[in-house]
Amino acid sequence: MATNTEKDTVSGQYTTGHEWDGIKELNTPLPRWWVWVFYITIVWAVGYWVVYPSWPTMNGYWAGTFGWHSRTQVVQDLEQAQAAKGVYLSKLKDASLEDIIKDKDLLNFALAGGRSVFNENCAACHGVGGVGAYGFPNLADDQWLWGGTLDDIKTTITYGIRNTNPNSRQSEMPAFGGGDKLNDAQLNDLAEYVLSLSKNGTDPAAAERGRAIFSSNGCDGCHGETGEGNQAVGAPALAAGMWLYKAKEVKAQKAQIISQIQNPKGGVMPSWADRGLDDATIKELAVYVHSLGGGK
Ligand code: HEC
Ligand code: HEC
Repeated sequence: MATNTEKDTVSGQYTTGHEWDGIKELNTPLPRWWVWVFYITIVWAVGYWVVYPSWPTMNGYWAGTFGWHSRTQVVQDLEQAQAAKGVYLSKLKDASLEDIIKDKDLLNFALAGGRSVFNENCAACHGVGGVGAYGFPNLADDQWLWGGTLDDIKTTITYGIRNTNPNSRQSEMPAFGGGDKLNDAQLNDLAEYVLSLSKNGTDPAAAERGRAIFSSNGCDGCHGETGEGNQAVGAPALAAGMWLYKAKEVKAQKAQIISQIQNPKGGVMPSWADRGLDDATIKELAVYVHSLGGGK
């Protein structure tokens, strides 16, 4: 502290005795309470060093008398989360698909799991949210190639479609119109008839001629007389107008139909059991897909 102090006439405070070019420094000490808080924080910090991990030592660091460790904390949190998950997982293993959708908590758990597995494994083909893409069916609408009940969906996911698994869903649309089977005019009429089934026809006279070609070639055997489709053989409902091989506008759609008749595409989906998804995960997926909007 300065010794050479005097009272400042304007503020009534003492000065520190420092003076520069006639400017004097007032002595304004820190408030008592502030100083005490400052001392307390110092004491607190020393206590903290002692009980928590703090200073480096020659061969490591001071671990603190509490033995706390951020990694131990994370492990504990994970163990707790795992335990909570385990309860649901073991429930899920034993539950039937119907049980799952009846139990609200279990359903939410399954949906969350199903969504993340779906995004990881299925969205690449079926799109996020199952909206579908050219050749990959929309899973969020109520049109199903192979059936939309919980069990149908589970079977499709488990064994897949047109793959080498012995339980895979199988069917094959034969190729028509290669060589001399159907000529261009007949293909045009047939495509017009197929379009007319979903009221998208552009030429009623051609569609009328196409009707006969449709039945004489046995298209109705798989797709149904009125184009209602057949889930036993995965034959799309042509009358729904929700195309698996979808084009932007009617003219291009007609070309798609003719192309399918000449060169059926026979889409393939892997068996997810063969891909290593376990039964509980496949149940989560089935429940999730069923919930997307079209579940039966
Ligand atoms: C490599 C692309 C591909 C992947 C990945 C894929 N799918 Fe598919 N999926 C297809 C194709 C192609 C079809 C339609 C095949 C056909 O019948 O013409 C299909 C059909 C389906 C169907 C039947 C739809 C119906 O209308 O009956 C379901 C359900 C389905 N997929 C679910 C899934 C789930 C769940 C996953 C992820 C675990 C998945 N798919 C991953 C290609 C894929
Ligand atoms: C043996 C059963 C079978 C017969 C017969 C058959 N189809 Fe198909 N058709 C299918 C199946 C299965 C698919 C879907 C799988 C694939 O090939 O991609 C399909 C797909 C189609 C599609 C595509 C539908 C879409 O949503 O994009 C059209 C169009 C079609 N068939 C028209 C015909 C016509 C026309 C005939 C008769 C000349 C015919 N089919 C005969 C089974 C059949």
